[in-house]
Amino acid sequence: MNKDVEKILFTEGDIAREVKKCAAWLDERYKNTTPLAVSVLKGSVIFFCDLVRAMNTPVQMDFMTITSYGASSQSSGVPKIVMDLAAPVEGRDVLLVEDIVDSGHTLVKMRSLLEGRGAKSFTVVTLLDKPSRRQVDVKADYSCFEVGNEFIVGYGLDYAQQYRNLPYVGILKRSVYEK
Ligand code: IMP
Ligand code: MG
Repeated sequence: MNKDVEKILFTEGDIAREVKKCAAWLDERYKNTTPLAVSVLKGSVIFFCDLVRAMNTPVQMDFMTITSYGASSQSSGVPKIVMDLAAPVEGRDVLLVEDIVDSGHTLVKMRSLLEGRGAKSFTVVTLLDKPSRRQVDVKADYSCFEVGNEFIVGYGLDYAQQYRNLPYVGILKRSVYEK
């Protein structure tokens, strides 16, 4: 285990099992359409790659980079688009893939943006949900795991751009960010 991780919450095996379930749920939902799967970079990229490969439904893929953090463990509350989608979303069934829904600001921003561009439907799946920190009333359509009010790293999630490639999800030691 990484020395900065206090506790592993979900192992590779736990994650693989939940990714499979989520993919099956999406296959059921998207029977007669090819959704545009959108990875919200960078945090969701590892979940995204595993998820689309576990789906039987054909998907198209696109990417958007949003930041709300900087090098901090607190969200600024003002998500910024750093890189926009390449494809138009008008008339598309958009599947938004998130790493974690925390304050909810990112999700609200993405939803209004994509609906404003004329997406036909908008479905959100997230690896993690941290409901105790919500500042706006939003919910993913599907979430794999719920977590408490702790700072999480691994499987895509970072602190100051580190720990993304840990194969598990764990709690970061407070001493790392409370210096
Ligand atoms: P929001 O606060 O719901 O807008 O979430 C913004 C983004 O903050 C998420 O997509 C993550 O990239 C990041 N984030 C929120 N909580 C955590 C955490 O515990 N660890 C790492 N990143 C987080
Ligand atoms: Mg993110």
